Amino acid sequence: AADVFTYDPGFTSTASCESEITFIDGDKGELWYRGYPIEQLAAESHYLEVCYLLLYGELPNADELEKFENLVTRHTMVHEQMNNFFRGFRRDAHPMATMVGVVGAMSAFYHDSTDISDPHQREVAAIRLIAKLPTIAAMAYKYSIGQPFVYPQNDLDYASNFLNMCFSVPAEKYEIKPELSRAMDRIFTLHADHEQNASTSTVRLAGSSGANPFACIAAGIACLWGPAHGGANQAALEMLQEIGSVDQIPEYIKRAKDKDDPFRLMGFGHRVYKNFDPRAKVMKESADEVLDLLGIENNETLKVAKELERIALEDDFFIEKKLYPNVDFYSGIILSAMGFPTAMFTPIFALSRTVGWIAQWKEMIADPQNKIGRPRQLYVGSDKRDYVPVDSR
Ligand code: SDX
Repeated sequence: AADVFTYDPGFTSTASCESEITFIDGDKGELWYRGYPIEQLAAESHYLEVCYLLLYGELPNADELEKFENLVTRHTMVHEQMNNFFRGFRRDAHPMATMVGVVGAMSAFYHDSTDISDPHQREVAAIRLIAKLPTIAAMAYKYSIGQPFVYPQNDLDYASNFLNMCFSVPAEKYEIKPELSRAMDRIFTLHADHEQNASTSTVRLAGSSGANPFACIAAGIACLWGPAHGGANQAALEMLQEIGSVDQIPEYIKRAKDKDDPFRLMGFGHRVYKNFDPRAKVMKESADEVLDLLGIENNETLKVAKELERIALEDDFFIEKKLYPNVDFYSGIILSAMGFPTAMFTPIFALSRTVGWIAQWKEMIADPQNKIGRPRQLYVGSDKRDYVPVDSR
């Protein structure tokens, strides 16, 4: 092999970029959006206000908030021809596959907001994405179950609108339950941003080439789909349902510890958190609230989740490896109780994270020094050699 050569990549820190948007302390289990702790935002704020905060750096005053909410509300419809676009997919396509395709195609429908050198077009693209992602996610769901698309309604708040577009049918209006909409809104807030995770880094990298915002967000959605990342919420619930009852937990703990077994506890562990993911704590409280609100008692899956967490947190293997529940461990229980199939869990993560991707993309565009650009490598392949014709090999 070639002598491994070393080169100075030009930086010493391991940081890939500087950002003012989100702070995570993995050891303490802290998460702040623009300095505000996630626990306070989840309890006191609401998603569109958090969107404003992530995008512009400060909490809006009443007038700014009203203007922003009106702007988003009036961009929730998608181009009517998109309905035909959806009809090109197989009905049984995973909603994430549909979302990657449709969001990527937005630059074909909204080409008047693709020139990233124009600040106004950047702003229009940002609003269109935040406003239309719930509509596209709901359309992906409706299409997959063979029900007609439901148009957004301007008299509904962001979360209620999404629930209505998913669950209303011509034969029967969906009954908006404010507490359920509040729980949905909280889930959006908990997923809104998370520093330089894989999908956000994907969006930044795509954006560093000057690609249009719709293409960059589609790249982020594609990356998020992976089971090690945003796809874990679907995998976590399916794992809890496979475990089925608390007496089956020891078998799965054993498998998680077995180096030769590829099985991992989905919804556990994190690249950064070596303590509780603060979002998981809020999600766990919300799970109790939602199941209670829906009159669901003795939910076996929630029982398994809580017992699995209890056992794991007392087990040396998990303590040594600092493995704690992450944002994906409880979210599926809430979404399933609300009526969503597991295939819709990651699309909901994607629509929630769109504002974080956009905020990080805008920050990168505004500061060329902050571009991830083109990562270098350490070459450890074959030394230089001459071609050998096939009859001499
Ligand atoms: C998200 O980056 C983000 O911020 C992402 C995210 C966001 O908001 O954007 O927070 C969202 O993606 C949350 C993570 C969701 N993924 C899962 O729940 C999938 C299961 N988790 C693992 O695949 C894993 O924990 C990762 C991928 C999340 C992290 O992988 P690492 O970096 O290998 O995990 P680690 O450093 O914490 O691992 C330490 C050790 C390793 O063993 P050793 O190599 O030291 O022997 O713990 C093991 C891992 O093999 N380990 C697990 C485990 N997770 C890690 N063992 C069993 N079950 C697990 N879940």
